[in-house]
Amino acid sequence: MPEIKFYNRAPVPMEMHKVKIVQKLTLLPAKKRLQKMYDAGFNTFLLHNSDIFMDMLTDSGVNAMSDNMQSAMLRADDAYAGSETFYRMRAKLEEIFGIPNLLPTHQGRACEHILSQHLVKPGNCVIMNYHFTTSKAHITRLGGHVEELVKDEGLVPKSNLPFKGNIDLDKVRACIAKEGADNIAYMRLEAGTNLIGGQPISYENMKAATDIAKEHGILTVLDASLLQDNLYFNKTREEALKDKSVAEITRMIADLFDVIYFSGRKFGFGRGGGILVRDEALFHAMEDYITMFEGFLTYGGMSVKEMEAMIIGFEETMDIDVISQGPQFIAHCVRELDKLGVPMITPGGGLGAHIDARQMVSHIPSNEYPAGSLVAALYLCGGIRGMERGTLSEERNPDGTEHIASVEMVRLAFPRRVFTLSQTEYVIDRVKWLYDHRHMIGGLRFVHEPKTLRFFTGKLEPVSDWPEKLMEAYIADFGDDQ
Ligand SMILES: Cc1ncc(COP(=O)(O)O)c(C=O)c1O
Repeated sequence: MPEIKFYNRAPVPMEMHKVKIVQKLTLLPAKKRLQKMYDAGFNTFLLHNSDIFMDMLTDSGVNAMSDNMQSAMLRADDAYAGSETFYRMRAKLEEIFGIPNLLPTHQGRACEHILSQHLVKPGNCVIMNYHFTTSKAHITRLGGHVEELVKDEGLVPKSNLPFKGNIDLDKVRACIAKEGADNIAYMRLEAGTNLIGGQPISYENMKAATDIAKEHGILTVLDASLLQDNLYFNKTREEALKDKSVAEITRMIADLFDVIYFSGRKFGFGRGGGILVRDEALFHAMEDYITMFEGFLTYGGMSVKEMEAMIIGFEETMDIDVISQGPQFIAHCVRELDKLGVPMITPGGGLGAHIDARQMVSHIPSNEYPAGSLVAALYLCGGIRGMERGTLSEERNPDGTEHIASVEMVRLAFPRRVFTLSQTEYVIDRVKWLYDHRHMIGGLRFVHEPKTLRFFTGKLEPVSDWPEKLMEAYIADFGDDQ
């Protein structure tokens, strides 16, 4: 749905749904938030949900279900083996993607675990447009390495390129020549490229890249976790696709790949995951991993109620009214903050609005985690929980030095169908306040640093008393009750 036109004012994004069930929110007083931040080791993952006003950590598993999804849960067929819900889910995914073989999993990283476990040998390379934290961790754990071949322009924070997630075809050819096709476990293209700001990849680019892979006999894998946002951009930004339906575009994309996997916590508005495998032999070869690590082959660790809901969620994903909501709210948030001078990743993508932390708090050195500091400050100044997506989300180099991230961002996720426009305006307001007080924000250092995926559970402390000073300034402007 294009933006709804207004008679007497500038258009704003419009919710194409109405609220039926609500959850009460609480805004803790400022000083309490300061205490909570210390308790959480300056890691927003370790905050309690009840201490958060606007939870913009992620879009994973927190999207609003529709009435149809919730009512479908009642007809879920509870069975350890042979659940009818599984067969309905498999049939729906086959209808959408044209692949009949489904390996069910409990979530997206389980798909990555199984794929890499089966396909990656020590020394192997996996080609990607860009990595996602869990996809890379699974590959490197097995002695493989990833080659991120996104086009250089994709990493430029401010841009008006419509498809910043595109892979560089020259780099792909050069990488195959350097590694040798036999050493490449697979080519993984990520729709709605998460870590560079939810930026889409064009159909044209996916086609060209997978053509090269096929020429060299390299397996092609689509990470479809963020496909729904990507589909919106394929339809609205790719001239050749503008008259195609979302379902037609989905099938055109699916036809390019040997394997498609997804996190159902995003794709499908539920909680689960799955791997679709075109080749029968490869499909059967991976079945054992499901029974060993996930559950029986007809539920793979998912609740059948969630599976039944996701079947409807997949259907809703084919509806342009549904999938346009996230990108339109994000575009509004990015546009308004950009107008206010806040350095944003542009153009707005899917998944969330992203602040360019390297630019906004350029006085904080990379090894004091600029995005980590900014995300902590945002919780202090507004009760908004975002997510660090920068150096803190990387793992250290083998010699123990910091791996400085190419992009240093704060992500403000827009879980689908969850937030209203007034809540979005509140976020814009608090980010602007923080921008005007950005010089008061200081760095962080680890006090407990896990070796793997440290951003999830690591604990940090501020390098000075900057949080206290920042809170004083905030309370002076807004009072201590907010
Ligand atoms: C692109 C992408 N791939 C994989 C995953 C992992 O999915 P999950 O969180 O369900 O394990 C995510 C989750 O954020 C993702 O965004």
